[in-house]
Amino acid sequence: MTPQTQIAPARHRENRSHHANRSDIPVALTALLPDMFALYLKTQNFHWHVSGRQFRDCHLPLDDQAAQILATTDLIAERVRRLGGRTITYIGHIGQLQHIEDNDADEVEPRDMLAELLKDNWLLAKHMQATHALCDERGDVVSARLIENWIDEAEGRAWFLRDAARPG
Ligand SMILES: [Fe+2]
Repeated sequence: MTPQTQIAPARHRENRSHHANRSDIPVALTALLPDMFALYLKTQNFHWHVSGRQFRDCHLPLDDQAAQILATTDLIAERVRRLGGRTITYIGHIGQLQHIEDNDADEVEPRDMLAELLKDNWLLAKHMQATHALCDERGDVVSARLIENWIDEAEGRAWFLRDAARPG
């Protein structure tokens, strides 16, 4: 028996156990969705309600950010389904599981809108990084690669929000 054939069964067992332990990945991916929807609606809310001197600078970029977030919710849910999981099915589920706080204030200063969205996007990116670490641990390279894109998007949104909020 060559050393290679001795090693192969052990590798096979290891791979099988990786796959057997992947059931928590769709659960972790689904857990991102309530915050994605909460952030989507808040970004859209601020797009609709921003007013004053910063209207021109904020109105359209926030529309773009909301569209990006909404598009990514579909990718997350479809990855969950591809892994055999079930994802969220109703609005109440979002309310039960979201970490990002709603903002239903009548008036929000544009600078406060940007600061709040910045904080929310960083929170989302932090949760995504934890989900990415889980995927790495389980050897799910496809989910890990997808999450890298979503973290990149969150960081891109944060870049705009941080720089647009600067005085000057
Ligand atoms: Fe719009």
